[in-house]
Amino acid sequence: MNTAFNLDDYIRKVPDFPNKGVLFYDITSILATPKAFRYCIDSMVDIYTDKTIDAVAAIEARGFLFAAPFADRMQIPLILIRKKGKLPGKTLSKKYQLEYADAEIEIHPDDVPSGKRVLLLDDLIATGGTLKAATELIVQSGASVPEIFGVVGLPFLNYAAVLDPVPIRTLIQYH
Ligand code: PRP
Ligand code: HPA
Repeated sequence: MNTAFNLDDYIRKVPDFPNKGVLFYDITSILATPKAFRYCIDSMVDIYTDKTIDAVAAIEARGFLFAAPFADRMQIPLILIRKKGKLPGKTLSKKYQLEYADAEIEIHPDDVPSGKRVLLLDDLIATGGTLKAATELIVQSGASVPEIFGVVGLPFLNYAAVLDPVPIRTLIQYH
């Protein structure tokens, strides 16, 4: 892995999106740059290779993009946490408040390996509300969440308090 790589160079900053006064950290510029995307996946694999992670659960939609290549490289199951109404069959659902609106997410509880350690992964952690609700869905499904991973973290939105006591790891943080 190239340790001199600066991921910040590949994150587009968009002022006033989606609302005035919000600086939006856009990861589409990572995906559009193969070496930046490769850097993220390689870093994630380096971090988790020697840790006991039995499966990875990811949040729709942008979380999926990082979780799928990671799950393949790690050869672990990938569990999708989707917006309400997208998963067929038996689901568990959880309502929560997002930074800009109310939301509801769902999981297939039968896809969650009982009693196992599930890494929860997303592209970006803002208020932590989405990942908090997702943690509850995984625990309700019978597994544990030993750690939460985000490519980007915005700790000034206080996600650590929301997600406490689950440890959080990110590749880059903006303050
Ligand atoms: C964004 C982001 C995280 C979540 C972070 O997703 O990808 O999933 O919000 O916010 P929080 O920490 O305040 O909960 P969004 O709901 O915009 O969906 P998308 O990935 O489908 O664009
Ligand atoms: N960037 C991308 N997604 C987000 C953000 C952001 O700044 N805040 C909440 N979701």
